[in-house]
Amino acid sequence: MQLTKPIHITAVGSSILVGLVAIILCILKWTHTIELSWVVLIGIVLGTGVISLILFAYLINRFVSRKIKFIYSIITNRQELDANDFSLSEEAMGKLTQDTANWAKIQKKQIKDLKKQAAFRKEFLGNLAHELKTPVFSIQGYILTLLEGGLEDERVNRDFLVRALSGVDRISNLLDDLDEIARFETDRFNLKIQKFDMVQLVREVFEELESKANKKAIKLEFKRHYEPMFVMGDKKRLTQVLVNLVSNSISYGVNDGKTTIATSPVDKKTIRVEVIDNGVGMSEEHIPRLFERFYRVDKSRERHVGGSGLGLAIVKHVIEAHKQSLDVKSTEGVGSTFSFTVERA
Ligand SMILES: Nc1ncnc2c1ncn2[C@@H]1O[C@H](COP(=O)(O)OP(=O)(O)OP(=O)(O)O)[C@@H](O)[C@H]1O
Ligand SMILES: [Mg+2]
Repeated sequence: MQLTKPIHITAVGSSILVGLVAIILCILKWTHTIELSWVVLIGIVLGTGVISLILFAYLINRFVSRKIKFIYSIITNRQELDANDFSLSEEAMGKLTQDTANWAKIQKKQIKDLKKQAAFRKEFLGNLAHELKTPVFSIQGYILTLLEGGLEDERVNRDFLVRALSGVDRISNLLDDLDEIARFETDRFNLKIQKFDMVQLVREVFEELESKANKKAIKLEFKRHYEPMFVMGDKKRLTQVLVNLVSNSISYGVNDGKTTIATSPVDKKTIRVEVIDNGVGMSEEHIPRLFERFYRVDKSRERHVGGSGLGLAIVKHVIEAHKQSLDVKSTEGVGSTFSFTVERA
């Protein structure tokens, strides 16, 4: 018999005790150490059996219950427990096994998440240091050159100061972007939802980025000129989204290329805005990580394109804050389409 239940242990313990008592009493009777009739002897043996059964059952139950209660109070994080939670019934034991397994699963997941977060933090700090290093070194270089005589040289002094300033601007932009992301991540932001015309906004963004697009002879076009298309959202933030997406389509676009913005209804409540380019695109494997802070597809290529890899992280936060969705499709060498939804007014 396998001792899998408390009642088994009680029965075995009690049987052994009864056996021992019976043997001892028989020996004592045979050796005439004590005078006992068979009836009394059997009575004592049976009595021992019954008492030991009750006693063992009580002690084992108490001992196991206490242990289970302790484990249960840890896994459920409750001080006050229902007596049913740790009784030795089949049902309670089954529940305990299940609860413990669930608890272990949750702990395992939490540990995994914490490890992931730790790795993420490490990577983030590494990236940040790396991003700051480049402009800081260049500022340092220009200032040193100025101090070592450049200051008196009319031909370079102004130019070096302008270059140093551009390094400072770069750091300042980086810090602004990080501050923005931190605000989204800690919920310290307020969306100012208002009604505005998306078609008008696209025009404004195109105007803002026209000179950047002209440098690469990229055409900015709006597919189908709808009548005003009113939406509800934070206009300033959604401008940021469109500027980031169109700016990317130019940065990662090809000379003489094209960026198209298209709007289409999804349902009665939502419209989709697509930013389509015929630029360098990217392979599938990059898409899941694209919206992470500092993620860049081609680190060496993007270095002189100038970004720090925070634009899309901000885009994602803004769209998520609006409780809308964001999507990317891209093919290397063919182009990319970034799209997001927005609530209709
Ligand atoms: N339209 C696009 N076509 C091809 N690759 C893109 C496109 N948009 C983004 N990417 C890739 O995704 C990466 C992340 O974009 P993101 O806008 O977050 O950063 P960035 O443009 O490098 O820098 P930042 O926007 O912070 O100035 C880019 O470095 C680029 O590799
Ligand atoms: Mg960008």
